[in-house]
Amino acid sequence: MKSILVIHGPNLDSLGKREPQVYGKTTLKQINQALEKLAKIKKVKLTIKQSNHEGEIVDFIGKTKFRYDGILINPAAYTHTSVAIRDAILASGILVVEVHLSNIYSREEFRQKSLISPVVKGTILGFGPKSYTLGLEALLDLI
Ligand code: DQA
Repeated sequence: MKSILVIHGPNLDSLGKREPQVYGKTTLKQINQALEKLAKIKKVKLTIKQSNHEGEIVDFIGKTKFRYDGILINPAAYTHTSVAIRDAILASGILVVEVHLSNIYSREEFRQKSLISPVVKGTILGFGPKSYTLGLEALLDLI
């Protein structure tokens, strides 16, 4: 059975309550349930992690070797700042799909740059919680 690591970055644990006008009312638990439902249909195993800490996310990615077939990641605010997460993705050599709930290119200028996008297979953004299921489908099509 194929195995996928899902990583949710900082503040995504507050989805549902956090800036609902931007991120909607869907909680992280509901997003994870939708991902699990899709994984069941596609017969893949998901391991889901959330962290508010950059180094912990680097560790999650560093430990993927031989354990997972791909990573689905929303690096959240670290998208725009983290050379460490970018380097971890490059070092892992693993297939990665980046997702975002919002369209970061239509938001504040500081969000309009992703340090992660150039080192992943592809990015899906702007579709709210659906970005995650679309991202998982895209990732599974490639595996
Ligand atoms: C986000 C966009 C980021 O700019 C922001 O810091 C987040 C969420 C998104 O999914 O739209 O925390 O990654």
